[in-house]
Amino acid sequence: MATNVLEVRNLKMYYFTNRGVVKAVDNVSFDIKKGEVLGLAGESGCGKSSLGFTLMGMPTPPGKIVDGSIKVDGREIVGLPDDVLRKEVRWEKIAMIFQGAMNALNPVYTIGYQMIEPILYHREGVSKEEALDRAQKYLELVGLDPEIVYRYPHELSGGMKQRVVIAMALLMEPSVVIADEPTTALDVIVQAQIINLMKKLKKELGLSMIFITHDLSILSEISDKIAIMYAGKIVEYGDSEKIYYEPAHPYTQKLLAAIPRLHEDVEKLEFIPGQPPNLINPPKGCRFHPRCSYAMDICREQEPELKEIDKDHYAACWLL
Ligand SMILES: Nc1ncnc2c1ncn2[C@@H]1O[C@H](COP(=O)(O)OP(=O)(O)O)[C@@H](O)[C@H]1O
Ligand SMILES: [Mg+2]
Repeated sequence: MATNVLEVRNLKMYYFTNRGVVKAVDNVSFDIKKGEVLGLAGESGCGKSSLGFTLMGMPTPPGKIVDGSIKVDGREIVGLPDDVLRKEVRWEKIAMIFQGAMNALNPVYTIGYQMIEPILYHREGVSKEEALDRAQKYLELVGLDPEIVYRYPHELSGGMKQRVVIAMALLMEPSVVIADEPTTALDVIVQAQIINLMKKLKKELGLSMIFITHDLSILSEISDKIAIMYAGKIVEYGDSEKIYYEPAHPYTQKLLAAIPRLHEDVEKLEFIPGQPPNLINPPKGCRFHPRCSYAMDICREQEPELKEIDKDHYAACWLL
């Protein structure tokens, strides 16, 4: 049995805002084994990015981890002091390709300068030349010309910039990489190239990954497991084929029905009526019940737990 590189248990991260407490990550549990890709999907605002930041041990203010456990390579990181997290965990063990990172590259510094900075911080005694060599090695790995270290962000295409930020996440050889919507801003051809790159990295480096997207059609391509998030919770989780071909939760079924598929009548494309709830005052019971066509009395009153409904297939729904 492969070991778990990431174990998340009952994780809660809330934003303590003036308007109230936003329960953006609410009792989330899952595991990732070495070399495994977990696809994380759900509509915008359901807490995917919040979960990513939390796993890096850096919830955005005013967010705080209020409960739960995150083990990276067996080590508990919840409660570690920030200097330890910064030196030993973040980027070293778990790295993140932030949503929109390719547009956040600093325009006044060369790619090389931006890549060697974290290496010099994390590796004492490494010279600038050695750091630059390392940066170039990773640029090559993601399919870029290593001479790009001398270029500025504005000289690169969107796809090239996305490859640069992927290379940056890999620099410290982390065990887990979280990729937050890495293809969302790109055209379909470049999207496909980036997906292929991620698959290659998974194979060649044995990389474990959390691949976040709101686009389920991409997920089946790359994921071993899929977790569906709704209103701060994982509502279904399991083997990617099972989720894709035998979705159990009405929310997953609706999400899948909303994907345009080739050779199908486009007029039949469904959408999910209503909007995800406000996470300050989420609905009682199952958070999806106001939008669910199968809602029963119990769904309005009691929250369903995530249960194993089939081997390695979990769902939180009273119908099951
Ligand atoms: N810094 C913040 N302060 C307060 N609320 C936030 C903050 N960041 C995100 N949220 C809220 O948390 C919820 C989840 O957001 P997010 O994690 O960005 O979702 P997703 O990535 O799935 O689109 C949303 O309701 C969003 O408004
Ligand atoms: Mg997001």
